[in-house]
Amino acid sequence: MWKLDNKKALITGGTKGIGRASVVEFLQLGADVLFTSRSEEDIRAFEKELSEKGFKAHGIEADSAKKEDREKIKNWIDKHWGKLDVLVNNAGINIRKKANDYSEEEFRKVLEINLIAPFEISRLLYSNLKKSGNASIINVASSAAIQDVGTGTPYAMSKSGLLQQSRSLAVEWAQEGIRVNSVSPWFTKTPLTEGFLHNEEKMNAILSRTPLNRVAEAEEISSIISFLAMDKSSFITGQNIIADGGMSINAL
Ligand SMILES: NC(=O)c1ccc[n+]([C@@H]2O[C@H](COP(=O)([O-])OP(=O)(O)OC[C@H]3O[C@@H](n4cnc5c(N)ncnc54)[C@H](OP(=O)(O)O)[C@@H]3O)[C@@H](O)[C@H]2O)c1
Repeated sequence: MWKLDNKKALITGGTKGIGRASVVEFLQLGADVLFTSRSEEDIRAFEKELSEKGFKAHGIEADSAKKEDREKIKNWIDKHWGKLDVLVNNAGINIRKKANDYSEEEFRKVLEINLIAPFEISRLLYSNLKKSGNASIINVASSAAIQDVGTGTPYAMSKSGLLQQSRSLAVEWAQEGIRVNSVSPWFTKTPLTEGFLHNEEKMNAILSRTPLNRVAEAEEISSIISFLAMDKSSFITGQNIIADGGMSINAL
């Protein structure tokens, strides 16, 4: 059961960071993988890199926030797989500002990609997930869902909303054989956080709050996503696994 053999898995935002590490790990564990990104060029480059390593995954250029793009994903799954065993709602963005500095468009964009799109994708693919009989949705939230970690309010709101989305769908869809869980990473080395990783003052502040005294590698998050996708985690639903090097239990 420590494998994903023959599981059909969709990973949104699969070309960089945590999503990319998840695509690789899922393939290593035997899954068939479909991934998305907004860049056709990045998709083709990643497909090529994977095929040179002996893996085959398919990428679709699709913006999670666009209805017509989400339908493109659904059409591909209907045509090639019918069922869907694993959905990883990973694609996410951030715009960091003080609350009063956001334009309405910026604020709504963060919510659209991080919170609304996972709900729309999960609903759109519900019939495919139901067909699996043993499906798992994993929503990638954040430490920012639980505490203020200086990410800006819209990001924090979007991720805390995503945690409750996971819990509510976990209850609603349990009888259909669909589990829904979240993973909440703290600072992880990816293109999203690159700016901070080279900022000594910011890094010192992050490390001083983190008992393990380092940030995470993307593979330390994809391993949790893989576990939640597996049948090994079959009695876990509606939960949030926090991967933060001890940051949230460090009071002093
Ligand atoms: N890194 C961290 O420290 C950290 C901590 C907590 C939570 N997280 C969460 O973990 C998830 C992944 O973060 P990451 O650090 O790996 O980010 P990343 O390095 O910026 O990668 C994000 C991936 O998502 C894709 N993407 C972004 N917006 C998209 C959209 N609208 N539609 C489709 N694909 C989209 C990106 O490709 P394109 O740009 O080409 O579309 C890219 O492949 C996010 O939900 C993030 O909020 C990250």
